[in-house]
Amino acid sequence: MTFYEQRAQRTKAFQEDRFGMFIHWGLYAIPARGEWVRNTERISNEDYQQYFDEFNPVHYNPRQWALLAKQAGMKYAVLTTKHHDGFCLFDSQYTDYKATNTPAGRDLVREYVNAFRAVGIKVGLYYSLIDWHHPDYPAYGDRIHPMRDNEAYKGRPENFDNYITYMHNQVRELCTNYGKIDVMWFDYSYDDMAGEKWQATKLIEMLRELQPTCVIDNRLGATDVDGAGLEAEPPIYAGDFYSPEQIIPSQGVTDSAGRPMPWECCMTLNDHWGYVAKDKNYKTAQNVIHMLVECVSKGGNLLINVGPNAKGEIPKESVAVLQQVGEWMHNNSDSIYGCGAADMPKPEWGRYTQRGNKLYAHIYERGTAAFRFDDLQGKVKKARLLMDGSELQLFEPWYSKYQQGAFVDLGTADLPEPMGTVVELILNS
Ligand code: GLC
Repeated sequence: MTFYEQRAQRTKAFQEDRFGMFIHWGLYAIPARGEWVRNTERISNEDYQQYFDEFNPVHYNPRQWALLAKQAGMKYAVLTTKHHDGFCLFDSQYTDYKATNTPAGRDLVREYVNAFRAVGIKVGLYYSLIDWHHPDYPAYGDRIHPMRDNEAYKGRPENFDNYITYMHNQVRELCTNYGKIDVMWFDYSYDDMAGEKWQATKLIEMLRELQPTCVIDNRLGATDVDGAGLEAEPPIYAGDFYSPEQIIPSQGVTDSAGRPMPWECCMTLNDHWGYVAKDKNYKTAQNVIHMLVECVSKGGNLLINVGPNAKGEIPKESVAVLQQVGEWMHNNSDSIYGCGAADMPKPEWGRYTQRGNKLYAHIYERGTAAFRFDDLQGKVKKARLLMDGSELQLFEPWYSKYQQGAFVDLGTADLPEPMGTVVELILNS
């Protein structure tokens, strides 16, 4: 089997799932100014230590998170086991800088994997390649390290090989101690800190051996500026899927041979990943639904982020949005799961998704008069409103000789499902 075929096989279920929950959570929930707070405010290990000493998420109840994800129609989740600040939510034997040594006093990753699996949601682990706490990670002169211009760090004896050993050991722990891991999400590469600098081939070989069915993102190889991993025969560390961040690619993602690649757009619900108390710029449920539909219509997944607060709670605004998304998914998820790009161009009134001979019309603009599906005359066996399963009668208008299409009567002037009305069209072939 070629790399391409192997990847297609490995990512099949992942691509059918289409919708996941990203969870950014760590010590940075306490300052509540984002997970990059150490970078933006140049905070030293010493000054950041207060959050470690305080970390006590008394309302952490991952079962509630899992139930929310489930209700929203999400099929998998990805939790930050370690972010760039280096703090580990899991009980690693290779560091003291971990949740078990804070007032939380326990392995929060274990509770997460157990809770999500218990409600039938697949588990993913985010792991930061970058580590601003580790003494062997380049600090002074690095582009993004909090101590990048702190003279006191100049000439610090860093042994990068030590860091690589540490990082590989932790990935081994995550792949050994928590059962089956469905997604491994590495973040991220920049400048020459990419690919073999992470000893990425070795790392992936280990991971594939320990977790043969795990799906892996592309950020061990790809940096924020290049298109590494899009080669027709990419290096093994190119991973399984592309990870556009905060944008949806205009035509999906294809490799250099023009073949579609698995991809997943990750997106914040407000303007930050980690909890930011003042950021109330939340997207609406309709925004999220339309993003999800757009991703699926281009053959991709959507990973929507939540940033739980210092007490371990998902912000109530996020909960409200995801619950509304869940109501729509309850009625319309057939147009999402297992679906991908349609064999039709983007229609003027919305988008198409498709699974086999089922074509899903996501109608955002009702237009006027009878509703017309261009180029489908004589090709539709059956049409129904997905929200309630009711049949929609196809008809041929008397005056349609010069206007080809399949027509249905959508009835009222308003769309029956304002967030996105879905018509299921069962095609003849
Ligand atoms: C990044 C950021 C980050 C966030 C992530 C999510 O590159 O560094 O904080 O975790 O992308 O995709």
